[in-house]
Amino acid sequence: MIKTVRNIQEEINELKSQKDICILAHSYQGHEILEAADFTGDSYKLSVDASKVSNKNIVFAGVHFMAETAKMLSPEKNVYLANTFAGCPMAEQMEPEMISALKAKEPDRKVVAYINTTAALKTVCDVCVTSSSAVKIVSAMPEKKLLFIPDCNLGTFVKKACPDKDIMLLNGGCPVHAAVRPEEVKIAKEAHPNALLLVHPECIPAVSEQADYVGSTSGIMEFAKKSNAKEFIIGTEISIAEHLQFSCPDKRFYVLSKKIVCPNMKLTTLMDVYRVCKAIGTDEAAENEIIMEPELIEKAKVCINEMLRLGG
Ligand code: 13P
Ligand code: SF4
Repeated sequence: MIKTVRNIQEEINELKSQKDICILAHSYQGHEILEAADFTGDSYKLSVDASKVSNKNIVFAGVHFMAETAKMLSPEKNVYLANTFAGCPMAEQMEPEMISALKAKEPDRKVVAYINTTAALKTVCDVCVTSSSAVKIVSAMPEKKLLFIPDCNLGTFVKKACPDKDIMLLNGGCPVHAAVRPEEVKIAKEAHPNALLLVHPECIPAVSEQADYVGSTSGIMEFAKKSNAKEFIIGTEISIAEHLQFSCPDKRFYVLSKKIVCPNMKLTTLMDVYRVCKAIGTDEAAENEIIMEPELIEKAKVCINEMLRLGG
């Protein structure tokens, strides 16, 4: 018998209750995965959700640093990444040694790390931020001199919102969002003159400066749902326009650029989620399990806890 998406989702639901599994899915995942998840949202919301779940097993549909963050927040739980090839290129852009060397030169500069970083890099950082919490956390920090890594586009956005801070930036960022050109904004606005432009701060300043709203994945979704406007151009991963179209059928959503497809987020399929749920409790689940040394968790968690303390 050929299985439908619904059949697979039902089997996942049975496996969840049999094996005490909680599924966390980032909003860039496909609709069929979000439907099977217990918690969905942006990086910040998922970090908070991960810190609160009581299930023995967590399956993460997202990219590696997100599952790693969930493991750090729930080290006593078994955390599995649904597709082990799903990494975030931005998270791997900077080495801890490079940041330690910079800190040695400027010891009074606090290091603010976007959550899209490896656990190893987090060990040399003072506080983590996500796109939805960055401005709030940086504003709440008593220190003026900061180094913001790795995303210089999100960093520029934070710098503008916090003009009293001395924020140093390095040349990193999300290759998917940073690829959008200002000319594409012009084309999209001409095609949809009544639409509001909603953009993720990982886009380059020449793009986000033209937006009616700049915010995280969840921020964009909330804005569009609450707004009285009827048409929106969505300047983030194209799945967000699709999810919004499902939840607001009376509004129209257009993608700013068809290039904004994260190949890593798109690696995970519903079948990956099903397979890992089925494998939990057997040796086959080992390849998906996030294993971290307790010492690494202890050191890297400091800046995540600081984020939850300042941003909560
Ligand atoms: P948020 O989930 O913080 O909006 O970030 C988007 C992203 O690129 C995740 O990798
Ligand atoms: Fe990384 Fe960008 Fe993909 Fe997010 S959208 S996972 S930041 S590459």
